[in-house]
Amino acid sequence: MSGTGVSGAADGRPVAAEARHDAFVTTSRRGLNHDLPPMRLYHKAKKFGTWDPRAIDLRQDKEDWKLLNDAQKDALLRLVSLFAAGEESVTLDLLPLIMVIAREGRLEEEMFLTTFLWEEAKHTEFMRRFLDEVAGVSGEDLHHYHTPSYKKIFYEELPQAMNRLLDDPSPAAQAEASVTYNLIVEGVLAETGYYAFYRTLQRQGVMPGFVQGIRNFQRDESRHLAYGVFLLQRLVAADDSIWNVIDRRLNHLLPYALGVTHEIYASYGGEHPFEVDQQEFIDYAIKQFSLRAQRIEQARGKSLAEVYRLAADQVEEAAPDGDEPAGAAGQPGEAVPPVEPRPAEGTGPSSTGGGGAAA
Ligand SMILES: [Fe+2]
Ligand SMILES: [Fe+2]
Repeated sequence: MSGTGVSGAADGRPVAAEARHDAFVTTSRRGLNHDLPPMRLYHKAKKFGTWDPRAIDLRQDKEDWKLLNDAQKDALLRLVSLFAAGEESVTLDLLPLIMVIAREGRLEEEMFLTTFLWEEAKHTEFMRRFLDEVAGVSGEDLHHYHTPSYKKIFYEELPQAMNRLLDDPSPAAQAEASVTYNLIVEGVLAETGYYAFYRTLQRQGVMPGFVQGIRNFQRDESRHLAYGVFLLQRLVAADDSIWNVIDRRLNHLLPYALGVTHEIYASYGGEHPFEVDQQEFIDYAIKQFSLRAQRIEQARGKSLAEVYRLAADQVEEAAPDGDEPAGAAGQPGEAVPPVEPRPAEGTGPSSTGGGGAAA
């Protein structure tokens, strides 16, 4: 690999002793491209992702917890224990993808991914805070809430797909990792979970601090998902055979993702303590999932410039302007200064050097 990525071994994986940079984006004519969809997400993350999990007031939540009946406490504890371990897992397992993107010299994408990892760490912190301070279960083991489908995804499929990238950074391996991480875990599972929290807690007017936190999570996750869809679009546009990889991976994982909901309901004999219909969750999950799969399929046969145009809408949908997070840890950032529009084609990471990784 040449250009701004790390060069080294012939298969693209740098050997430490041979690793070197041949050029840098920031000191080349190209400079940073603020129009790239991931860079626009990066600017949004600086503005909307700067909330502090410790700044959210959970005092009312503690009072509300005491008024739940045992079945409701169990259902909420189950859902939070799935989320806590899920956030921990995505925090632990993201690094191999960041490493691949960095080695390909995609500076703007890596800059966004630094915000991505920090946000997952904050989600992990907030979920544990709920368990310690609201549910008061410090010192208890909650692994018994993790059912077979959940374990299949978070104990096996996600860490395996992500860590495979350390040995195999190929576009097919990247696509499998992103489908698992972004489309299934963040798309189907996390979004259905947010929906469950809103549907049960917000409608009943309880747990206001926790609901605020979930709203912040959802705003952060909308950027993560927008990046995942962009990454898959970029990979599909560069090589149409990647679509089959994505399709196969989705079909492999979707039954387990839907299985998580089935197993939650099965734990309560088909009746959920918060009286929410199981089918409503499944319909919601499938609708969200289908929308993203369609967007990725739209990238087939498209140029990189067309992928950027497709991704622009996804970026706009992620955290609309004027929507500040609860628990913001400082003043909202300044508006992003206008930048000169750049031609989309040829502005990929390798444009400062010959060849390289740009799709
Ligand atoms: Fe998260
Ligand atoms: Fe995420």
